[in-house]
Amino acid sequence: MEVCVMEFNLDKDAPIGVMDSGMGGISVLRELVKLLPHENFIFYGDSANAPYGSRSTENIYELTENVVQKLIAKGVKGVVIACNTASSAAGRRLREEYPQLPIVAIEPALKPAVIGCPNGRVVVLATEATLREKKFANLLEQWQGKAEIIKLPLPGLPEFVERGELDSPALREFLQGYFKTLGDKPVDGVVLGCTHYPFVRKVIGELLGPQVKIYDGAAGTARQLRRRLFRRQLLSDRQAKGQVQWLNSSPNPEMINLSQKLFNIQID
Ligand code: DGL
Repeated sequence: MEVCVMEFNLDKDAPIGVMDSGMGGISVLRELVKLLPHENFIFYGDSANAPYGSRSTENIYELTENVVQKLIAKGVKGVVIACNTASSAAGRRLREEYPQLPIVAIEPALKPAVIGCPNGRVVVLATEATLREKKFANLLEQWQGKAEIIKLPLPGLPEFVERGELDSPALREFLQGYFKTLGDKPVDGVVLGCTHYPFVRKVIGELLGPQVKIYDGAAGTARQLRRRLFRRQLLSDRQAKGQVQWLNSSPNPEMINLSQKLFNIQID
């Protein structure tokens, strides 16, 4: 392991970097801004390389580190990996390599789902990479036996969100195809273990029925960031409202417009 000795801008007034393989992390950014309205954020969507979810661990790590370095070059005081896939494949390694920089990762909200649906049927929707990584295996080990936990990867779903298709007959048909594999027994809880999925929360809820409780890790991640910055005395004491700067690796200028649209729409 190489420890990177870099100059960080560990200043209260510096912005916070938020990254995702694409648009999904905007569902986390919404919670970050809600909890920390006076902070400035830089959101970097790596849409040119999305999706990450079916790539190898090493490849996801390289792509994630590349984005984190871009954010460091912009002078961020901390980074939120607002992508479950990148968090699983790269979170720990990046924290070891950049020990001075607060790096907050996300994980599927399995804990609140199992607590909220004791002995129930809980389905974890996430990418293939998230579900195969050690980080998820450890989480599963902790909660297995307290509910029936079913892993369901949904390759192809982030692409709908990347093109702003949040409800359509094609999307419903795509999801129905996967949900059919769950059989007739009702599902009590669903974990949205990929940050793209909250944008199609309404459709997922409608297809799985009114009994289903839906969980995601965005609010928990926001609280974790606040704790980490507080401990390091890095929370801004600015009085004015913070701002979001939008960056995307895609050459398509529409991606920034779509990012802003996803940031502002109602998704609950
Ligand atoms: N948003 C990413 C996550 O939370 C996954 C999407 C992708 O496959 O790139 O896992």
